Amino acid sequence: MDLERQNPAAAHWSREQYEGLFVATSSQERSERFALVVEDGGAQPEKFSSEAPAILAFLVGHRVDAEWELENIVVAETARRRGVGTCLLSEFVAHARAEQGSSIFLEVRKSNQSARALYGRMGFEEAGLRKNYYASPAEDAVRYSLSFC
Ligand SMILES: CC(C)(COP(=O)(O)OP(=O)(O)OC[C@H]1O[C@@H](n2cnc3c(N)ncnc32)[C@H](O)[C@@H]1OP(=O)(O)O)[C@@H](O)C(=O)NCCC(=O)NCCS
Repeated sequence: MDLERQNPAAAHWSREQYEGLFVATSSQERSERFALVVEDGGAQPEKFSSEAPAILAFLVGHRVDAEWELENIVVAETARRRGVGTCLLSEFVAHARAEQGSSIFLEVRKSNQSARALYGRMGFEEAGLRKNYYASPAEDAVRYSLSFC
C-alpha cells in the first residue's frame, strides 16, 4: 500500500480491497487472481533483521474465464528503468499463456507515457479509448490488449 500510495499513476485500492484479493467465494469459481511481489535483494539477511524486506514492485492480475486483466503494476521510483516492470509483465504474460488464457487487457491513463511505452514494447496493442474513465484528475483511459489467438 505504501508503494502504491507513492505512485499517483497506480491503481489505488483500500486496505479491504488488498485484503480481499485472495479471498475466494463460490461465485469466483471461474476466476483466478495472480500476484507477483519483488523484494529488495540487497536487504539484510533475515537472521540480522526482524523487519520485512522492502518491497520494490508488484503486479496483480485477474482472470475471468479465458480473459485476463492487468489490474495493477507499480515499480518503486528508485528501481525504475532497470527492467523490473518488463520482468513482472513477462512473468504475467507467461502465466496467462500457460493457463490457456485467450488475451490480456488493461486500461491506462492517456498521459502515462512510461507505462504505455512498456505495454507497447511488450506487444500490447491499443484497443480503444474510454472517455473520462478516471477521476481525480479526470482523464481518458487507453485500453490495450494482447491476444494469444
Ligand atoms: C510503468 C512502470 C511499471 C515501468 O516500470 P520499469 O521497471 O521502470 O520498466 P522497465 O525498466 O522494464 O522499462 C521497460 C521499457 O518501458 C519504457 N519505459 C519505462 N519507463 C519509461 C519512461 N519513464 N519514459 C519512457 N519510456 C519508459 C521503455 O521503453 C523501457 O525500456 P528502456 O529502459 O530499455 O528504454 C513504472 O514506471 C511505474 O511503476 N510507474 C508508476 C505506476 C504506473 O504507472 N503503473 C501503470 C498503471 S496502468
